[in-house]
Amino acid sequence: MAEKKTFYITTPIYYPSDNLHIGHAYTTVAADAMARFKRLTGYDVWFLTGSDEHGQKIERSARERGQTPKEYVDKIVAGFQHLWRSLNISNNDFIRTTEERHKKVVQQIFQKLYDQGDIYKASYEGWYCTPCEAFWTESRLEEGNCPDCGRPVELLREESYFFKMSKYADRMLKHIEENPDFIQPVSRRNEMVSFIKSGLEDLCVSRTTFNWGIPVPFDPKHVIYVWVDALTNYISALGYGQENDELYRKYWPADIHLVGKDIVRFHTIIWPIILMAAGLPLPKQVVGHGWVLLESGKMSKSRGNVVDPLILIDKYGVDAIRYFLLREMPLGADAYYSEEALVHRINQDLANDFGNLFNRTCAMAYKYFKGHLSEPGRPEGPDGELIDLARGTPGAVEELMERREISNALATILRLVGRANKYLEETAPWALAKDPEKQGRLNTVLYNVAEVLRFATVLISPFMPGLPERAWPLLGLEDKPELHTWESLSWGKLPGGTVLKRGEPLFPRIDPATLGEE
Ligand code: ME8
Ligand code: MG
Repeated sequence: MAEKKTFYITTPIYYPSDNLHIGHAYTTVAADAMARFKRLTGYDVWFLTGSDEHGQKIERSARERGQTPKEYVDKIVAGFQHLWRSLNISNNDFIRTTEERHKKVVQQIFQKLYDQGDIYKASYEGWYCTPCEAFWTESRLEEGNCPDCGRPVELLREESYFFKMSKYADRMLKHIEENPDFIQPVSRRNEMVSFIKSGLEDLCVSRTTFNWGIPVPFDPKHVIYVWVDALTNYISALGYGQENDELYRKYWPADIHLVGKDIVRFHTIIWPIILMAAGLPLPKQVVGHGWVLLESGKMSKSRGNVVDPLILIDKYGVDAIRYFLLREMPLGADAYYSEEALVHRINQDLANDFGNLFNRTCAMAYKYFKGHLSEPGRPEGPDGELIDLARGTPGAVEELMERREISNALATILRLVGRANKYLEETAPWALAKDPEKQGRLNTVLYNVAEVLRFATVLISPFMPGLPERAWPLLGLEDKPELHTWESLSWGKLPGGTVLKRGEPLFPRIDPATLGEE
């Protein structure tokens, strides 16, 4: 058998400076949907997430709470892992930057860049934004504040090591210009091109005024700059440079680094230049998505206006939360979060459309045939249009996923569901049921809708991974895994003799009046 094609996707490794909120959940859920979709369509997928545990910001947060950094991060990182389990995240590994396997790779790369003369010692005098963990020259500041987050910066004056980024600026620019897919969406690419064109200085890559970090191997009173440490996770987790580097050889370069737009710069300039200098292949694509916003502004741990995903999961269920996040956020654009919008989506798409199609179809099959469906008769009336749409939907969804348009992919699945609801109105099985001569036609109509439900269940499974186990029994297919696959999505595979079941509604309607209740 031919080897499967590989697909490596990563999320940012989040700072354990506080618990995660719905914005972080969005990134990880989106990466999970992409990973699951690739698995469904036959790829050998590696999906990595983790935690970025070093740096001044974490050291300060720990100190404010009277804990050692390690005590502090251990507890918060356990919370990350709990959240990802609760959100049904299918990551293959979870990397912590405090792990030995990570530290030694970071030190190896730092040493290599030093040995080849790309890292040198000088004295740094400039500005630092601790919330962003970013160095800024005077000229980049905006009204004296961090140009990324707008918060005050601190003046640093210390002896440091510098990385010769400037030496690679032209090569980097050329790479971005010659590989239009490297940075997505286009708006992000344009920002990065002008950032490089406005002049790339060498990067300060070590600090001496605190010590919660990975020591510079040849000068241990320095700790390695936290972004150099963090970015390296994408290869340290694969065992790069180690005796067993099988994962690295198999999965690198990454197919997608999915990140928020706040950190595209680190991923499309600093990280690729480190890789270039080290002589390693660059990731194929960096996708920078927009922000989940609140009416009260950008959600952020430091502003304290966060929405806790665990509370929402308890209240509405994990599949509904995932659906909402993925449907509501077109790639690259910002989107407002509100509980009203969440409930509206659940009611409209999941209760009225998706859930309702299941309920109606299963209830009618039960009422008219005790659930039993036979092979369908010849297509007539609107059958052809429904069947054509169903046949075209898997390909359309795959193409949209290739373009990273998750929201449109979901809209396309829901369009098929909507067409099937309309088909029921057009064919009116309740009228056919009154005519003993029309039993064959009645069976065909219900069969066609059941087949659409099978297609829709397979297609939606990467986005709502908890749905299939509730849906398959309704379609009487829980013991037929061969009909749950991508390959099975050719029309008419649903066997005659299938028995549909009535069940609880998949997505009960939520009364908007209950909003805000705990
Ligand atoms: O930046 N809307 O970690 P971080 C959407 N440790 N996404 C959001 C968001 C929001 N309101 N808030 C956060 C770091 N995110 C570094 C990363 S990677 C080598 C190191 C998401 O905890 C978004 O993906 O600040 C953003 O890029 C990421 O969380 C930042 O997480
Ligand atoms: Mg941040």
